Amino acid sequence: MFAWTTFYLSLVNLKIMRYYLVFLVALGYVKAEVFYEEINPYTEALSYTPWKSVQKYVEVRPGAFMFYWLYYADGTSYGADRKPLVIWIQGGPGLAASGIANFMELGPFDMHMQPRNHTWVKGRNVLLIDHPVGTGFSYVTDKKLLVKTDRQMATDLARAIKTFFRTHKEFRKTPTYLFSQSYGGKLCPRLAYYLHTAIEKKRLKMNFKGIGIGSGWVDPKESTLAHPSFLYNMGAIDQNTYMKCVVISKRIAYAVEQKNYVAAGEYDAILYRTVTQESGMEINFNNINQVDTNGALILLEKKINKYVKPTLKIVKIVNQSLEWSYISEDVFQSLNRSFFVPSMKFLEMLLNKTQLNIAVYNGNLDVVTPLAGASNWAHKLNWYGADEFKNAKRIKINGHRTGFYKKAHRFSFWWVFGSGHWVPEDNPVAMEQILEHVMSSDE
Ligand SMILES: *[C@@H]1O[C@H](CO)[C@@H](O)[C@H](O)[C@H]1NC(C)=O
Ligand SMILES: *[C@@H]1O[C@H](CO)[C@@H](O)[C@H](O)[C@H]1NC(C)=O
Ligand SMILES: *[C@@H]1O[C@H](CO)[C@@H](O)[C@H](O)[C@H]1NC(C)=O
Ligand SMILES: *[C@@H]1O[C@H](CO)[C@@H](O)[C@H](O)[C@H]1NC(C)=O
Repeated sequence: MFAWTTFYLSLVNLKIMRYYLVFLVALGYVKAEVFYEEINPYTEALSYTPWKSVQKYVEVRPGAFMFYWLYYADGTSYGADRKPLVIWIQGGPGLAASGIANFMELGPFDMHMQPRNHTWVKGRNVLLIDHPVGTGFSYVTDKKLLVKTDRQMATDLARAIKTFFRTHKEFRKTPTYLFSQSYGGKLCPRLAYYLHTAIEKKRLKMNFKGIGIGSGWVDPKESTLAHPSFLYNMGAIDQNTYMKCVVISKRIAYAVEQKNYVAAGEYDAILYRTVTQESGMEINFNNINQVDTNGALILLEKKINKYVKPTLKIVKIVNQSLEWSYISEDVFQSLNRSFFVPSMKFLEMLLNKTQLNIAVYNGNLDVVTPLAGASNWAHKLNWYGADEFKNAKRIKINGHRTGFYKKAHRFSFWWVFGSGHWVPEDNPVAMEQILEHVMSSDE
């Protein structure tokens, strides 16, 4: 009786089942707790606001399985290929897009399973990928298969994307964009360059049009050098701590210049310890104005395992003994020697040699990648339009005190006000304009 009812409860059509259950409860066959426990707010939300999506695994290397989740634009596959496709590249490394981008930033539902007003899937197809392998629903059969470098990370992702366009051939002519965040923002120029090269060599059919780099860890040196003054200006640290942090951040910068990325990581641990121990407040590194979001992430983990994962069983996809975590520590550790490896060279190659529209955007409340650091590296990029970019006038972003942008040729840089590290969630108005800007074809 019990197994049988649970089987039915995992189906989407909950409403009929509820009446049926009330009937069974009334008959005394099913205990009342079972009835309350089994209502799944996620399937419930889907029944009111259906969004067509597909989830699949790609074996990117033997034993290394990458999970993707494609949302069709406006919830329907009908005519979807005539609307743009956004491929989202989450950061961490090791943060899971299937949960974070999906329920906390841009998917059709928020983490309370309510429809999201500013979802990206209105008018756009969105492909979320749990990467690198070992993250979210992606997995490896042996921990030795976890990636250790950005190059391996981008190669695996490029393979998953190639497989995607072989599986969903209808999207091969669809204007397609990479949008990225944080460590994903560092990976994005490299990945874009790999994809561009594969397209040129006719190994990939994809209509690649542009990239967005949000809160990008593109130039770890410039971001790190901006940490002490940002924290000091925001009042998060005292002058003594500030002066200590300046010394440490300069050591990190020197180590990065020497390509001693391991030493840079070790000094960075000292910087982090100094700030957290001496500040006297709990700093939310994602957004200096907000309380810590860690509680929300733990709650998200519970909800995904309890409500979302079982629905992925229906399509015989996800192994139910896989425990979904919002971050994979193993993945993060495995990449610890790559954390400070920069990626400006790839961005310069894209600027010099491709027709891609490129936007770099950053929030002004972001501690992880402070806005001044992003502005500093964006202005240092060496490409043919660099002087024009430096001298370009800033233009206001639509909306009330939403920020500024400036542009030269196909490159734009965006100062996003009121936003921390997660721009899609913190300032959806500015984010919408950035998306539209990158997706409009004129310069
Ligand atoms: C949701 O979007 C609609 C239409 O753009 C707007 O009128 C409404 O105020 C928004 N609601 C919230 C809660 O932001
Ligand atoms: C990186 O992680 C490995 C494995 O956990 C560890 O042995 C090593 O000390 C770490 N290196 C750095 C620079 O943190
Ligand atoms: C599911 O995962 C468990 C634990 O990792 C493993 O033992 C089992 O073989 C997996 N099942 C399938 C069908 O792959
Ligand atoms: C890009 O172009 C600039 C000059 O316009 C040049 O100095 C630089 O070396 C180029 N960089 C790359 C990576 O192509």
